Amino acid sequence: MRIILADSYKEMSIEATKIVAGQIYLKPASVLGLATGSTPEGLYDNLVAVHKTIGLDFSQVTTFNLDEYIGMAPENPQSYHYFMHRHFFDQVNVRPENIHIPDGCAEDVPAACRAYDKLIQSKGGIDLQVLGIGRNAHIGFNEPDVKFEARTHKVRLDDETIQANARFFEEEEDVPRYAISMGIKTIMLARRVVLLASGREKAEAVRKAVCGSVSPAAPASILQLHPDATIIADRAAAAELPEDCLTGEE
Ligand code: PGA
Repeated sequence: MRIILADSYKEMSIEATKIVAGQIYLKPASVLGLATGSTPEGLYDNLVAVHKTIGLDFSQVTTFNLDEYIGMAPENPQSYHYFMHRHFFDQVNVRPENIHIPDGCAEDVPAACRAYDKLIQSKGGIDLQVLGIGRNAHIGFNEPDVKFEARTHKVRLDDETIQANARFFEEEEDVPRYAISMGIKTIMLARRVVLLASGREKAEAVRKAVCGSVSPAAPASILQLHPDATIIADRAAAAELPEDCLTGEE
């Protein structure tokens, strides 16, 4: 696992932008796995800027998002569909037909999950998966004690995740309890993974991901077994990493 230590949120976003933009320059028809949440907002802002200023071309890119709340219609401002369109898709030239986000309103959720994994496979698999990390070390909505072998599936959100995400809703009770999420296996099949972490409240999760035992208790720890995983952490998120973990690039 490669660790990039960034001085700030801004620098973390720049490092992530270099990786994602580089991927698209090298392979214009890349398949990207994308994440929502506060952490990747800077990355999306930068990618939009690179598109608008020097024409980074997304016309051949295919995207698959990690997750969506169950019962959330795409036009709902709290949906991840809405987030992705507002922060990214509406401002770049990814073709609408190449955008894929789990359908939170699917009538048959297991069938929709199976179809999602099949679609990823049919596009040749994910070249580069962007991840955030939860305070409980979740990736996607794969909460502690997830089965590592799970592919895209229905998940119940942890109380900690519900509390963390309540900031986007009027009341904590409004946070959906269930979501569709790519599973750990789906994520591990991506050829390259880059996880972004910012802020002191992620420090324990980052430590568990990088140096803890590989265990479903800390889902992100599985990335230690990924052949091409990079963690970009700002100083606050890296605060609990022991010195010997910080031998990567600075
Ligand atoms: P955040 O969420 O970027 O809003 O902190 C990350 C996550 O829960 O995976």
